[in-house]
Amino acid sequence: MAIKEPKPETRIIWDSDTLERMNVQVDGKFEAGFLRVPVERMRLRRYVEFEKLAMLAICGQLPSVPVYEDIGKLSEIAYEDVLLAIRLEERNHEHPGGKREKIDEEPFEEFTRHLDHPDSLAEFYGNLFEVLCKAQLEAYKRHRAESDEFFNRPTAKILEDAIATKRAQVKWGGDRYREMLSGLDEAEQSAVRKRVRAFRSLLKWAGGVDGTLSATKPAIEPGSMEPIPEEVNFDPAFKFDTGYMSREDTLYWRENRIKFDGVDDNGNEITDRGYQLYSYCCEIDVFLQFAMIIYRASRDLPLGFYRDTTRQLWDEFRHTSMGHRVMRLNGIDPMDLIRPMRWTVWRQMSVAENYAWITQTGEACSLVGKHKQRKNFISDGRFHEQTLIEWDISDESQHVRYGARWFRAVLDDDEFEGSSKQFVINATEKFNWLYYQHMKRLDIIPKGLEEPKPYRGCVEYETLGA
Ligand SMILES: [Fe+2]
Ligand SMILES: [Fe+2]
Repeated sequence: MAIKEPKPETRIIWDSDTLERMNVQVDGKFEAGFLRVPVERMRLRRYVEFEKLAMLAICGQLPSVPVYEDIGKLSEIAYEDVLLAIRLEERNHEHPGGKREKIDEEPFEEFTRHLDHPDSLAEFYGNLFEVLCKAQLEAYKRHRAESDEFFNRPTAKILEDAIATKRAQVKWGGDRYREMLSGLDEAEQSAVRKRVRAFRSLLKWAGGVDGTLSATKPAIEPGSMEPIPEEVNFDPAFKFDTGYMSREDTLYWRENRIKFDGVDDNGNEITDRGYQLYSYCCEIDVFLQFAMIIYRASRDLPLGFYRDTTRQLWDEFRHTSMGHRVMRLNGIDPMDLIRPMRWTVWRQMSVAENYAWITQTGEACSLVGKHKQRKNFISDGRFHEQTLIEWDISDESQHVRYGARWFRAVLDDDEFEGSSKQFVINATEKFNWLYYQHMKRLDIIPKGLEEPKPYRGCVEYETLGA
């Protein structure tokens, strides 16, 4: 909405008319421009909750999204939602009593159950963007219009940014929803539309985004799509039918195929630079690992945890795309390379084990090699490759810090009582063992990789088929 500027010649004074208006309360708020602090407090609390629920719903369904580019966009939206939630929460905590503001949990839980369990991907897009995201946009616009131009400028500023963000999300997600509908036959379309309509009524029953609505509860059951499903429904444009790297492919890449490194002074082929670039393509399942970490972690964690982990989710997608780009640059089709293959392994590890392993071992240990290859690329005059690595080093250094900050917070009660270092060692050994067993089953163990020693430290290790 356009910002109302006072006429230049008008002097703002506290006349009796203004004072009278400020003392008249109508339905919990004053007329437009006089939204009260207690009402704002309640609304902001709800906004934060809905932003968080939208982000969690995305993480839950990300492994079921079969379009690679859409996974990237949804990851970015999840990160945007958390950034908005943080600003709204910070603002609410400025108000007296803002930190103690509560929501009525029961309708939120019911709403979440439906949001997290659509019956189809089309319904997922419909519920999330056509219903929830659109309702968020409308609520923010209304709140902005009702806010006093002067006193509530801090909230109005946040809402103006939120409105722009939500508008773009509604546009993108709404378009995806309509595209998906157009790929269905008439009966399927009408079934999806019916469920999305019922979901809209459910949001209304839950009070709407700002708590001003009410309705009778619609007759609707949660759909069949499980969040964090057993199998990843990955983009078929990536060409491995089985969903895994083949043994030939692994060996080919590790031992033969990376030819663009050249030879050293003794005439020996150098392969580590190419492998470093190829390894970015292998991050294709790390963003899915983060979707799992975020979705499965306790929902009581502070928003700071979600800010760091959704950022990492989005980063890992961008790193994979960077790997694809650099492969294309070197004449290799990235669609021939690799699909997510470690999902089964991730699912057998706890949230804290996943998080500790990837950040404190996987990423922490990768930095030495990355710094080395960055220097090599500079001396080779390969500035495109060096620039990409440089940006990656910046992200990854952050990721290691995120992990150190949060992995103990995501430990389940009674999961582990020893030192952080020992937990990281245990998680690493567990990952190495499970990954080796997984590759053995798929017959893709790279030559020279020895079976890791059986691991004995983690919870329920013996039940994992070791
Ligand atoms: Fe990465
Ligand atoms: Fe990372």
